[in-house]
Amino acid sequence: MKFAKFKALKMGLRPGCGALSFGLLLSLSGCGGAGGGTSASTGSTSTSASTLTTSTSLSAIAQLGKKIFFDPSLSASGQVACATCHDPAQHYGPANTLSVQFGGPTLTATGIRQAPQITYAYRNPIFSIGPDTSTQENINVAQVAASSSSTTIPQKVAGGSASSTAMVPQGGLFLDGRVDTLQAQADGPLFNPAEMANTNVNDLVTKLAKSSYADDFKQIFGSNVFSNPQMLLSEAEGAIARFEFEDASFHAFNSKYDYYLAGKTQLTASELNGLKLFEDPAKGNCAACHLDKKTADGQPPMFTDFQYEALGVPRNSAIPANADPTFYDLGLCGPVRTDLTAQTNYCGMFRTPSLRNVSTRKVYFHNGIYKSLNDVMQFYMLRDITPEQFYSRDSNGSVLKFNDIPALYQANVDTTDAPFNRKPGDSPALSTSEIADVIAFLNTLTDGFQSANAYAP
Ligand code: HEC
Ligand code: HEC
Repeated sequence: MKFAKFKALKMGLRPGCGALSFGLLLSLSGCGGAGGGTSASTGSTSTSASTLTTSTSLSAIAQLGKKIFFDPSLSASGQVACATCHDPAQHYGPANTLSVQFGGPTLTATGIRQAPQITYAYRNPIFSIGPDTSTQENINVAQVAASSSSTTIPQKVAGGSASSTAMVPQGGLFLDGRVDTLQAQADGPLFNPAEMANTNVNDLVTKLAKSSYADDFKQIFGSNVFSNPQMLLSEAEGAIARFEFEDASFHAFNSKYDYYLAGKTQLTASELNGLKLFEDPAKGNCAACHLDKKTADGQPPMFTDFQYEALGVPRNSAIPANADPTFYDLGLCGPVRTDLTAQTNYCGMFRTPSLRNVSTRKVYFHNGIYKSLNDVMQFYMLRDITPEQFYSRDSNGSVLKFNDIPALYQANVDTTDAPFNRKPGDSPALSTSEIADVIAFLNTLTDGFQSANAYAP
């Protein structure tokens, strides 16, 4: 809760960059260009959610971005588009139940993380390490992190307020926050050897030149656009970002909970009780990290504080990379993200995900280990009471608690915030029927309760 205020403030920065009259490429480059900007957070500068989502027509650039998003011919295999892993029918997540998705030239390569739903990703603020100030945007993140390496992460209590001077990593895109803008983000999958697997810029440019929408590029950006590969790439990635930013399907704001917040529907007794337990610091305490109230500037909640936490999720043997016992995905401190590897106090931390559309997800947590919300709830309630239920044992029969984080960094795991403040013999924070109510509440976060944006007048 405590950071909601300054985050809202930060989101209000960069006037002009969130303008919806984004017809000119120049304005995009100025705000979310390759030099670093905030296209992911530009959405937040808009005055209200309804202005974003009631528009039915996409700009020419966003229409181009939509074509790129759905085009499998831009991949080495010819079969993988952004939409393959981010399917609009699944709230822009994958349709299958695999922990990690297949990609690469022959569709046999896998990454190390679940493919997240990317609805609402446009609201992620840029990556920063608190305490936040408005001048933070150009500072060296590794330096701030180094200065904070002895600071402990403050305790999180739903509705509570902790010291505002704590150094807290937050924001960014990807589960380790390694890029700041949707435009920069698109560069990842296009060239990731386990995803669309283009080998270099020219490789991709050749495919774009052959695409059915090559003329659109010329019309929008000028007839010379194909003679400057780097420029073309930047325009293509900017167009994808525009699509994710403009198209209402990415941020419909029409879940039952949105209708409830807008005063346009009631929750059932079970859903209401679930909401109460979700917020109660002595029960679920979920809202301490998954913020469920409107922000200070009146924007609908994102169900995340965008901050990083280590929950000690069990190692997932279904991920091929985990066959190597020395391999660990430690989120903020690497190996994918490379600028914070020295900050071992961040090892094991991943960004708190939004819970919008969460009950339609096929897999949960960064490594996709769980397949149902009930599994997730069991982990939250029993991790510290009956750890043997979740973790493997060593040859002596001892339970290897937090077995996906090397022993040296296991102290980073959150063991203070409810419901993680338990020990063997304690009773779980929520009973079976209370868990059912929380899940009933989470089911109200799915877009499509009605067709219109709940906050539209
Ligand atoms: C083979 C599957 C796959 C394909 C294809 C793919 N992605 Fe992803 N996407 C992922 C995975 C896995 C992650 C999380 C990776 C990480 O955190 O390191 C991700 C993360 C993202 C995120 C960040 C979400 C967040 O919460 O931070 C966005 C936005 C995104 N992808 C957009 C795209 C776009 C645009 C394309 C096409 C250019 C694309 N993806 C293609 C699997 C895929
Ligand atoms: C201390 C902060 C914190 C609290 C409290 C918390 N969460 Fe989370 N939640 C996280 C983080 C961080 C992750 C991602 C962890 C990972 O992937 O390693 C997460 C992941 C999840 C996921 C998986 C979503 C996905 O896309 O994979 C669900 C569901 C969830 N939380 C629900 C809850 C519920 C319900 C509660 C209350 C019982 C709760 N959380 C309490 C921080 C928190």
